[in-house]
Amino acid sequence: MFKKLALSAAMALALTTGGAFAAGAEGHVEDFDFSFEGPFGTFDQMQLQRGLQVYTEVCSACHGLRYVSFRSLAADSGPGLPEDQVRAYAEQNFEVFDAELDDFRPATPADNFPVNDSLGAPDLSLMAKARAGFHGPYGTGINQFLKGMGGPEYIASLLTGYTGETLEQAGTILYENTAFPGGYISMAPPLYGDDVEYADGAEATIEAEAKDVAAFLMWAAEPKMMARKQAGFVGVVFLTLLSVLLYLTNKRIWAPVKGKKKHA
Ligand code: HEC
Repeated sequence: MFKKLALSAAMALALTTGGAFAAGAEGHVEDFDFSFEGPFGTFDQMQLQRGLQVYTEVCSACHGLRYVSFRSLAADSGPGLPEDQVRAYAEQNFEVFDAELDDFRPATPADNFPVNDSLGAPDLSLMAKARAGFHGPYGTGINQFLKGMGGPEYIASLLTGYTGETLEQAGTILYENTAFPGGYISMAPPLYGDDVEYADGAEATIEAEAKDVAAFLMWAAEPKMMARKQAGFVGVVFLTLLSVLLYLTNKRIWAPVKGKKKHA
C-alpha cells in the first residue's frame, strides 16, 4: 500500500519535472489584464485597431474570420474605423469569391472576412469564446469568476508561450508551447516582436502584439459585450429601485394591522 503510494508520488514528480517545463495536460494560462474585464470594463478602441492590424498582417495568412463582417469594423463599440477607411481596408487587403461572377474580387464592406484554413488553421471568429483559460479549483469555476473566462488570456498566453523547442512527429514539426494543452502545437510561432509597425506608434513588443490581437479576437467573438454589460447594469438598478418601492408599499399596506397589534 505504502509502496504503491510512494511509487505513484515518485511518478507524478517525474512527470511534472520531466519536460523542459511543467505544462501537464492543461497548459499554463497567464492572467493578463484587459480593459474589458469586470462588470464595467469596455473595449479599448485603439487596442482593437492595433489587434486588427496584427490579425491582418500576420494571422490572416492562415486563419479565417468568417463570421465577422467588414462593415462591423466601423462600429463605435468596436474598432470604430471611419466608413471610407473600412472600404479601403477591405478592398486592399482581402479578396472574396463571388458566386455570381464565378471569380474572386476585392472585398467590400458588405462582405465577411474570407474563410481561410491554410495548414489546418482553425477559424478565429469565435476562438476567444471557444477556449476557457481558467478552470477550477475543483470544478467550482471560482478562478473564472475572479480572473475572467480566460479566452483572450489563453490566446495571448499561447502566442507568448513558445519555448523554442521543437519535436518532429510523423513528418510534421511540433513546437513546444506552455499554454497549449498537451504542450506541443503545429502552429509555428507567429510573433517575434516588431512583426508590425503600429499605425498609432505604439511599441510592438511580442506581449503587446499578443494582447492586442487577443483583445481584437474577443471583440470579434462578442461584439455586443459592452451593450450586454450596460443592459445588465440598468437591470440591476431597476430591480434595486423596484425592491425599495415594494418594501415601502408593503409596509404601508400592513401598517394598520401591525399598528393595532402593537397597541393592543
Ligand atoms: C503559418 C500559419 C499560421 C499563422 C501565420 C498563424 N497561425 Fe494560428 N494556427 C495555425 C495552425 C496550423 C493551427 C492549428 C494548430 C494545432 O492544432 O496544432 C493554429 C492554431 C491557432 C489557435 C488555436 C489553438 C488551440 O487552442 O486550438 C489560435 C488561438 C491561433 N492559432 C491564433 C493565431 C494568431 C492570433 C495568429 C496571429 C498572431 C496566428 N494564429 C497565426 C497556423 C497559423
